[in-house]
Amino acid sequence: MDLAVEMADLASRQPAEAAAPAGARVVRAILAGIGGYLPEKIVSNEELSRTVDTSDSWIRERTGIGQRHIAAPHETCAFMGTRAAQAALADAGATPGDVDAIILATATPDQAFPATAVRVQAALGCGGFAFDLSAACSGFVYALSVADAMIRTGQVRGVLVIGSEVYSRIMNWQDRGTCVLFGDGAGAVFLRAGSGDGTGADRGVLSTHIHSDGRLGDILYVDGAVGRSDRPGHLVMNGKEVFRHAVHRLSDAVDEALAANGLDRSAVDWLVPHQANMRIVDAIAKRLGLPVGHVVVTIDRHANTSAASIPLAMAEAHADGRLKPGQVLLLSALGGGLTWGSALIRL
Ligand code: UT7
Repeated sequence: MDLAVEMADLASRQPAEAAAPAGARVVRAILAGIGGYLPEKIVSNEELSRTVDTSDSWIRERTGIGQRHIAAPHETCAFMGTRAAQAALADAGATPGDVDAIILATATPDQAFPATAVRVQAALGCGGFAFDLSAACSGFVYALSVADAMIRTGQVRGVLVIGSEVYSRIMNWQDRGTCVLFGDGAGAVFLRAGSGDGTGADRGVLSTHIHSDGRLGDILYVDGAVGRSDRPGHLVMNGKEVFRHAVHRLSDAVDEALAANGLDRSAVDWLVPHQANMRIVDAIAKRLGLPVGHVVVTIDRHANTSAASIPLAMAEAHADGRLKPGQVLLLSALGGGLTWGSALIRL
């Protein structure tokens, strides 16, 4: 089977509705809690422009970024992931005993192994099982997809899905084309098994849609790590190429999510996009016909936190009361791989 056929086959199998006729009781992954963690240290564009040839105006105009949080040595992927997970569990009124599985999306784990997720498991005092997932900036949407499938098949009932990243440790701080773009942080959600009718009116994860195209692996990658080098490596990006793919692949992914649930664009209350570039976010929002007030934007303060950016944005909008029960969230992300995807969740 060639790659294009395989990808089309996978996409056609993803919607939950494919498994059950409308009206039948189905298991749904309900979004029970959301939490986030940001390092204390903030670095402004102005501060960066003292060490690298850039300016606040260039960074703001081209990306929308105004500042980023940068982790201290003790703020590792596991440390921040644990803090975000604790906040999500507290928000859900859940305890570590309610967690059957932890899926942690990251490209910047504490160690090659054990998985950072098991470090978080130990710190939280959970049972069950825990593993990491690698899909770069699409990691949270991928992890959500895996967690949703595990809940719907009855394998687990409570899952922590975490995105935690310390990209400051894989930056080439001399490369102005990349080092101004990223920040550190972690976000988490706690999903609980519930039930629905198998329609777009259900609460919970309505569907997820994940894709990759390995032929584009060299437009965004890290030039190191254990298999090929004795150093962790630095992030390398062909920004223009990634931008080009982002706009059209994300547009397709949001359409795919709506079509899978028989929902119209007007059903979306909040677009919660991966926060890579405000120009990409604006393009997706415009395609959906969503006014800017219906897009959760954190890029100005967090910059691009890769797999953490979507759950961090959700945590912020939840904490300030923007997210309300019954509302529909549309998540979309694209990152190294190339990986991309979308998800629809009804709160
Ligand atoms: O999270 C994973 C997904 N990532 C993304 O989606 C990122 C997608 N790409 C982008 O967001 C944009 O391509 C960037 C923000 C990375 C770059 O924006 P651009 O409009 O594509 O700029 P460019 O790379 O074409 O650079 C334009 C100019 C160049 O100068 P010349 O050759 O025109 O003289 C760059 O050298 O801007 C220069 N430049 C900078 N100038 C000041 C590049 N970086 C900087 C900088 N400060 N930090």
